[in-house]
Amino acid sequence: MNTPKQRDILVTSALPYANGSIHIGHMVEYIQTDIWTRFQRHRGHNVTWVWADDAHGTPIMLSAQKQGTTPEALIEKMKVEHEQDFTDFQLSFDNFHTTHSDENRQFVEKIYGRLRDGGHIAVRTIEQLYDPEADMFLPDRFVTGTCPKCKATDQYGDACESCGTTYDAAELLDPKSVVSGAAPITKESEQYFFTIENFDAMLREWTSGEHLQPEMRNKIQEWFEGGLQDWDISRNKPYWGFEIPDAPGKYFYVWMDAPIGYMGSHMHYLKGDQQAFDKYWNPDSSAELVHFIGIDIARFHTLCWPAMLEGAGYRKPTAVHCHGFLMVDGAKMSKSRGTFIKARTYLDHLQPDYLRYYYAAKLNNKVENIDLNLEDFVARVNSDLVGKIVNIASRCAGFIVKNFDATLASELPDNNLYAESVAASDSIATAFENREFGRAIREIIIQADAANQFIADEAPWALIKEPGRELQVQQICTLGINLFKNLVIYLKPVVPDIARQTEAFLNIDEFSWSDLQSPLLNHQINKFKPMITRLESKSIDAIVDASKEDLAATQITATAAGVAKSTDNGNLKTDPISEEIEFDDFAKIDLRVATIVAADHVEGADKLLQLTLDLGGEQRNVFAGIKSAYDPATLIGRQTVMVANLKPRKMRFGNSEGMVLAAGPGGSDLFILSPDNGAQAGMRVK
Ligand code: MSP
Ligand code: ZN
Repeated sequence: MNTPKQRDILVTSALPYANGSIHIGHMVEYIQTDIWTRFQRHRGHNVTWVWADDAHGTPIMLSAQKQGTTPEALIEKMKVEHEQDFTDFQLSFDNFHTTHSDENRQFVEKIYGRLRDGGHIAVRTIEQLYDPEADMFLPDRFVTGTCPKCKATDQYGDACESCGTTYDAAELLDPKSVVSGAAPITKESEQYFFTIENFDAMLREWTSGEHLQPEMRNKIQEWFEGGLQDWDISRNKPYWGFEIPDAPGKYFYVWMDAPIGYMGSHMHYLKGDQQAFDKYWNPDSSAELVHFIGIDIARFHTLCWPAMLEGAGYRKPTAVHCHGFLMVDGAKMSKSRGTFIKARTYLDHLQPDYLRYYYAAKLNNKVENIDLNLEDFVARVNSDLVGKIVNIASRCAGFIVKNFDATLASELPDNNLYAESVAASDSIATAFENREFGRAIREIIIQADAANQFIADEAPWALIKEPGRELQVQQICTLGINLFKNLVIYLKPVVPDIARQTEAFLNIDEFSWSDLQSPLLNHQINKFKPMITRLESKSIDAIVDASKEDLAATQITATAAGVAKSTDNGNLKTDPISEEIEFDDFAKIDLRVATIVAADHVEGADKLLQLTLDLGGEQRNVFAGIKSAYDPATLIGRQTVMVANLKPRKMRFGNSEGMVLAAGPGGSDLFILSPDNGAQAGMRVK
């Protein structure tokens, strides 16, 4: 095996937005990055993986407002949550920073200054949608209305989800501001544009090379045909981000400072060491810069980002690796089906190696969606990891420990299986290197099948009963365990937890790729404990159930209120009226006036508030999906109507002892309150 010279590789993953939890869709990318990173380190290369939370932009500003907190407090809290999720998923990153950092501000100002001085910034006055009530310019996603083409209602300002047309927010019919509900007006303002067409020639050449996957190169051709438009990198106040130094009241657009966040995080990791930084970022750098991203953000990374780097005198990426989207059971992740699974919900039930293995088995180097089929997930990890890999050790270890003082034989039996297992190395390594993880897994499983076949053929459990065959049994099991060792060396980037336990079982230090060559002989091992156990379908059911819970609460509230119900994307759909009920059924519902005596946010819940309701003496704890409409502080002392005899329901956050009724289209328009406090708490409503 030839060992290439040590490479210096700087790896990044796309920065998750700081206003939402990490879900298993994000984890496709982060596990992909981790496997590749671990593989490179396993092979002896020098890899640094840096990334960050993407902490700026209007959505984060508005989320903070809604939660009655500051953007600083919100992003700080999310960063802790995100980093914990990543650590618990066994991601081997070197630094997770934030784009709201001093390092990042300095790089953003430096890059902007260099682009401006190089003549790549144009200032122009444009018309934009403005919310006259909230007193702010509206990003496309903050305007909804009717699609000008197919007339579908409730569409966002950038594209129609129904017919796929893209348009300007100003073209929507009956536009409404998501912030205040007011009809937006248009207003002129001066904006700062990055003139990307100055880099047309460079980009055409750069994007046609090996830096990108072939299908990305084709996609980008279409973008060139559409023409490279100037890119608006400024936003008007109020905005949450970095102010543009020579333009008071204007801020850098979040997508300007986000990729620069890769540099900010790297510099933070290097504790300000400029020389070490330059080694990676100077135009003549021989280090590799490798980005992992999803297809949805490819344009920013293949056009805007290389142009910014070039314009500011830095090197360009070695590679931008693009992946597709996660599907669960063939469909987009869905909150109502319980397939919108947060990283934390998964971790509450299962160890990371199952999902890491399954994603690896499904991933390749194409820009294709990958499907997490929940039934197949259970079958696949049980059959491969438990039934084929760990099984080898479990079949051999007992004999070695019990009959041979836990010591491996000093020779392998005369058999070429070990040599074959080493010989697979180059092909498996090439598959990992090229991000064809599915192919790597298939080749590893072929080796595992051969090992299992060998043990089945030799049947040490039968041989051990024949006198004089001890040495043979010891050698067979020694080979079995050494084949297992090599399988785990191959799989180590994918299943770090199994690898760690295997190292402990085999009583050795961390294995690296070069340990494939030498079999463990005459070596004492430890007692065998299975590194992973069968995945039970009931764990999957529990994950799906737990993922439904947040939403169940909102939907009950809204459905009981009438006909409106919010869907996954926050759009409103009208439900058909349910089956008729008898008057007696209705009479069973005990509706009472209740006073809200306490109201709080619920840690970890997107939609819920926790209310303490006083029914004129008796108090109830109720979770209500009304967070989008109310700041809890404004609820205290006010009255609402509740179903007082609803059977208590156990939720992830505690017991809900009743339900409040609400009316309204949803989102921020959801009303649960009496206009004044004329009614007496506990009074019957019907
Ligand atoms: N903040 C930007 C990225 C800035 S990078 C300078 C962003 N954030 S994100 O949280 O929406 O997504 C982060 C990454 O996760 C993106 O690469 C995105 O493609 C990926 N994914 C988010 N949802 C995903 C799926 N459902 N499936 C697969 N990948 C997904 O975009
Ligand atoms: Zn449409």
